[in-house]
Amino acid sequence: MELYTLARIIHVVSVVIWIGGVAMVTMVIIPSIKEMNSAKDKMASFESIEGKFQTIAKITTILTAITGFYMVEYLNAWQHFLQLKFWWMHAMVLVWLIFTIVLFVLEPFVLHKLFKKYMQENPENTFRIMHKAHWILLILSIITIIGAVAGSHGWYFIK
Ligand code: HEM
Repeated sequence: MELYTLARIIHVVSVVIWIGGVAMVTMVIIPSIKEMNSAKDKMASFESIEGKFQTIAKITTILTAITGFYMVEYLNAWQHFLQLKFWWMHAMVLVWLIFTIVLFVLEPFVLHKLFKKYMQENPENTFRIMHKAHWILLILSIITIIGAVAGSHGWYFIK
């Protein structure tokens, strides 16, 4: 098997696990945690579940980037970043960059402390904002997946 095909398989499987996990957290886990009565239970459940997923997300974002940049190099597709019809290439890098900054920088150094502080002050509002942020990232990721699958098969939506 060609290394390029293997890279493509790893790329797609990583994206499925990573964005699938984000979908699960957004559409199932946060709504059920929101229904819990005590703020203490809410925080403990969220931290335990999201904490476990974070390691998976970190590994899959790294694999997505390694295989993604390998494919750009293999396809000699760097000039695609200069063309509007390859907007989905920009979207892939943007989604990856946002998640990388959140997972490796913001969460450990800023968000974790902020989350604890705001959870003590106003748990309802904290979960509302967090849920919204998850939806925004999920929708952006789904648009990117639609654009990437269509675009890599020659359907660009724009000229
Ligand atoms: C550093 C970030 C990334 C780079 C450099 C990258 C690069 C690439 C490249 C070069 C391709 C092949 C394009 C072609 O065949 O013309 C590709 C395909 C694809 N990428 Fe990415 N990607 C990245 C991140 C992402 C992210 C974050 C997602 C999902 C949200 C994603 C989803 C996909 C999908 C669904 C395909 C199409 C696979 C197929 O239909 O066979 N990629 N990517």
